Amino acid sequence: MQKLLTGLQPSGALHIGNYFGALKPFVELAYEYESTLMIADYHALTSLRNPRELRQNIVSVAKDYIAAGIDPQKSIIFKQSDVPEHTELAWIFQCLVTVPFLERSHAYKDKVAKGLEANAGLFAYPMLMAADILLYDTDVVPVGEDQRQHVEYARDIAAKFNNAYGETFKPPKEHVLKGVAVVPGIDGKKMSKSYGNTIPLFGTKDEIAKAVMSIITDSKAESPENVYAIHALLKERDDLSELYKDNKGKYKVLKEALIEDIEALVAPMRSLRDSISDADAKAVLKEGSEKARARASSKMADVRKKIGVSL
Ligand code: ADP
Ligand code: TRP
Repeated sequence: MQKLLTGLQPSGALHIGNYFGALKPFVELAYEYESTLMIADYHALTSLRNPRELRQNIVSVAKDYIAAGIDPQKSIIFKQSDVPEHTELAWIFQCLVTVPFLERSHAYKDKVAKGLEANAGLFAYPMLMAADILLYDTDVVPVGEDQRQHVEYARDIAAKFNNAYGETFKPPKEHVLKGVAVVPGIDGKKMSKSYGNTIPLFGTKDEIAKAVMSIITDSKAESPENVYAIHALLKERDDLSELYKDNKGKYKVLKEALIEDIEALVAPMRSLRDSISDADAKAVLKEGSEKARARASSKMADVRKKIGVSL
């Protein structure tokens, strides 16, 4: 069976961009593969320095995964920091790549341009992500468009390592959900936890409504572009074009329709999520981390031998 793996940073509440870009494609594919979902807490450390918040987010994201339809009996759900082989392998990869190679990362440049601190962890981030993927002989990585280049980095570093030390890592492929690409946030830029422009996935109906009502619309256009882009994720194009034709220029009506459509998607997931306790979520992570670690440690034993640190 082919292997599927993806990760999400516990850097804040999940939003509908994460759902359509990563969770939904993952859930749809999960049963055809041997699948693993990782909470990338060390990636979150590049932008989050509040321990209480990080702890809460980790538990919260684990609940989000389960509520979004991932069955922990069938998929491994684990926390990156519980498997120290990830940071170990990331270091080895960092020693194989150059600074100019990493400087090509769009995500890094975008984040720094957005005002995030250009710390060395943020810069080396793609090598930790490559380790996440390659440690498990992953075949397919479902991600949003913005992460495509990071999967390419993983392929490049796999080839580089194999070239230097002999066949060790399998080249992974990204799976980007068609038609989703980048979900816009309420300011029209990429929706992102780090930009404060999100529609929360598990927010209350009021929170969702507040976010939708504040989506920026261009007062000159007849159809609110950003509202439509989000709506198109939830409804068939034909139904939508009728709705938008009948309500030309009526942004409030269109936004209200969007709120109802988001609510219809979210309500059943929200009630499942409310039934999961913190203890349940932690137990799922503990079990998942044990399984992940067993796999990662045998891969790392081979890597250590190949690079010459195992005597
Ligand atoms: P964020 O930018 O909100 O911090 P992450 O970087 O943790 O999100 O991304 C987690 C997953 O969700 C990745 O696969 C990413 O590609 C996807 N994703 C994030 N934002 C969007 C978006 N606006 N549109 C589509 N997919 C997205
Ligand atoms: N960097 C990804 C993001 O910000 C999250 C992530 C970390 C990831 N490790 C991964 C995604 C491994 C896929 C596979 O979205």
